[in-house]
Amino acid sequence: MPDPHPPRAVPTGGGRPTDLVIVGTGGMGRELFGIVRAINARAGDGPVWRVLGFVDDCPLEGNVKLVHQMDMRLLGPTRWLADAPPGTHVALGVGDPRRRRLTDESIRGYGHPAATIVHPNAEIGPDCVFAEGLVAFGGARVTTNVVLGRHVHLNQNCTIGHDVELGDYVSVNPLAAVSGYCRLAEAVMVGTTAAILQFRTVGRNAVVGAGACVTRDVLPDTIVKGVPAR
Ligand SMILES: CC(C)(COP(=O)(O)OP(=O)(O)OC[C@H]1O[C@@H](n2cnc3c(N)ncnc32)[C@H](O)[C@@H]1OP(=O)(O)O)[C@@H](O)C(=O)NCCC(=O)NCCS
Repeated sequence: MPDPHPPRAVPTGGGRPTDLVIVGTGGMGRELFGIVRAINARAGDGPVWRVLGFVDDCPLEGNVKLVHQMDMRLLGPTRWLADAPPGTHVALGVGDPRRRRLTDESIRGYGHPAATIVHPNAEIGPDCVFAEGLVAFGGARVTTNVVLGRHVHLNQNCTIGHDVELGDYVSVNPLAAVSGYCRLAEAVMVGTTAAILQFRTVGRNAVVGAGACVTRDVLPDTIVKGVPAR
């Protein structure tokens, strides 16, 4: 479980935009770019982020083409971050929780803070606390007294109920529902439209399949699926 993190403010703009590099040209990275554009478009006092481009250690040709279509550029491999301007933030466009943890570990030495990227249509309760790197897509809802670890990704229209703890690198996929008092350990992935009933715990690196209903605690390093999840 994550240590309690100090509350962090979601950046709101109003000054010079902060430089941002997105790590990963795949679907998640490009979706992140879309959220950043929505944030900038809604910021009353000017853009919050200035996206310098993408970095990727093994970019697929098709993804690079899509990045160019968005008028963005591939800056190079992640070691490009070694010479990034001071103050540059990074956003991890890596969907898989375990890969996200590895990516974070491999770039953390460059010393760039992880950006907090919250879509203007996402709701994070005012008494919730989160570590750096939180990404919340449009429609994600986090209610009250929730603790979110480092680089937690909350995908479109997922819901996180009261008094929940999500460990570092947890991903909650679209439309999934995590009920009150649940505790999800590091790098858990909750599949699309899955439901986790209240008070359940899910162990480190576990995967909850799409559409599953978790009625019992889930052990670390296991995959569960179905209704009820087994
Ligand atoms: C459960 C999951 C992790 C894969 O588990 P897996 O055991 O490796 O699955 P496989 O693809 O090898 O399939 C094995 C069997 O499980 C079934 N299965 C796969 N996913 C399932 C699911 N979510 N629910 C029920 N059954 C599932 C397959 O049909 C297959 O059944 P069969 O042997 O009778 O043909 C994956 O299918 C899943 O649901 N991932 C979440 C995806 C997601 O949320 N994507 C959104 C990204 S934004």
